[in-house]
Amino acid sequence: MAEVSKVGVVGLGAMGGGIAQLCIEAGVPTVGREVTPELGEKARDRIAHFLTRKVEKGQLDAGARDAAVARLSLTTDLAELADCDLVVEAIVEELAPKQELFAELERICRPDAVLATNTSALSVTEIASSVSTPERVVGMHFFNPAPLMPLVEIIRAELSSDDAFETAYAFGERLGKHPIRCHDTPGFVVNRVLIPLLNDCIRVLDEARVTVEDLDAGMKHGAGWPMGPCELVDLVGIDVHVHASEALYDKLREPRMAPPPRLVAMRNAGLLGRKSGCGFYAY
Ligand code: 3HC
Repeated sequence: MAEVSKVGVVGLGAMGGGIAQLCIEAGVPTVGREVTPELGEKARDRIAHFLTRKVEKGQLDAGARDAAVARLSLTTDLAELADCDLVVEAIVEELAPKQELFAELERICRPDAVLATNTSALSVTEIASSVSTPERVVGMHFFNPAPLMPLVEIIRAELSSDDAFETAYAFGERLGKHPIRCHDTPGFVVNRVLIPLLNDCIRVLDEARVTVEDLDAGMKHGAGWPMGPCELVDLVGIDVHVHASEALYDKLREPRMAPPPRLVAMRNAGLLGRKSGCGFYAY
């Protein structure tokens, strides 16, 4: 199993930024790659903001915050990930750009570096098919918001080596997560269950003529969910949820996987949830 002393995170959006935050908090020097310096700095500011909130709440001391932020270096040049032991990809959820990125990472990174994808609904095996060393490719699927959700799914693709798989598992533990092992099947474990369930919830909105607030209250107070389904898709992003539903429907052909028309209409109208300022709720 490889020792991970430096990590690369490609894509510093909501998920990649959260993953980078976890790495630097765990004491691991991390290179974050974004396509422009501005996007990289925006991600670093966001991470610094969340760490400062921890300082304000007495959960972290100011020195530890500064040391964590100093562990993050930003780049727009993928070549700067050359000496990373593990690279986690968190770019757009499209197969072709991910395959292109993995092919480039294979050229740049050391042969023993583990290459992980944070994909939520694509096949890790298909992503790995773009490289000539697929044994080093695994899935590390974090949940939104990554710094707060304890789970990480460690996904074994068809050709993943035991070494790469166990390196990713051990690294998940080192980040303070609860890792679980699974195979590369559509939606892995949690999204295979959660996506159709959220789609059912949205369909019930119209069927039961219940309000958004009452549906959320129902699932919180009647099923013990930490947040209601409408709040949750607003958090995940309506576009992200619709895209993941479509990807799972394509593979499984189960009607419950298909995104409800109401969500597709919201996505098309730009009502994307928290990130756009409006979804089921206004932010
Ligand atoms: N990154 C880092 N830190 C964050 C953050 C983020 N994105 N969001 C919030 N925080 C920090 C904030 O500093 C906040 O404190 P502050 O408000 O005082 O500044 C602190 O975390 C605590 O936040 P909350 O008070 O909101 O924490 P809660 O106790 O209310 O819990 C929650 C929030 C963990 C999100 C909880 O509501 C929950 O578990 N919700 C369910 C989330 C869920 O199901 N996620 C999975 C989605 S599916 C998925 O991700 C799969 C993918 O493939 C699509």
